[in-house]
Amino acid sequence: MTDNDLAKTDEVLEQYKDRAGNLIPILQNIQTKLGYLSKETIKYISTKTKIPVSEIYGVVTFYTQFRLQPIGKNIIRICHGTACHVANASKIADTIFEELNVKPGGTTEDLKFSVEVVACLGCCSLAPVMMINDKVYGRLTSEKVKKILAEY
Ligand code: FES
Repeated sequence: MTDNDLAKTDEVLEQYKDRAGNLIPILQNIQTKLGYLSKETIKYISTKTKIPVSEIYGVVTFYTQFRLQPIGKNIIRICHGTACHVANASKIADTIFEELNVKPGGTTEDLKFSVEVVACLGCCSLAPVMMINDKVYGRLTSEKVKKILAEY
């Protein structure tokens, strides 16, 4: 943890200091400030709150909102709704996973991309579709995907 991370974590812990039973909001707030919950951060929270590490892990692994890995600079959402599925979304997804050497839900080693497979993105007429951050890319082909990724 950097000094900056420690300061941000302390700030949240201070805020909840005299309030028992606030593990979830504590974790949510710290994740918002740091982007994810590292092993070190969890140990630190445990030391400060006297909540056992195992209990914190229990909560963090139960709720999907919590991330134990850092998130990439760019978030790719690959649509796997019905229209995209029919339009060969699996091939598009495989191209992305191969190009970036990443698994669904994973982040590239250089932290440039995180990849999620999601349900309908609401632009089915453009199937197959993906989003990178807020930008929609439609009528994708493997070649088009490679070109788009190269732009980032
Ligand atoms: S199914 Fe992919 S955008 Fe709707």
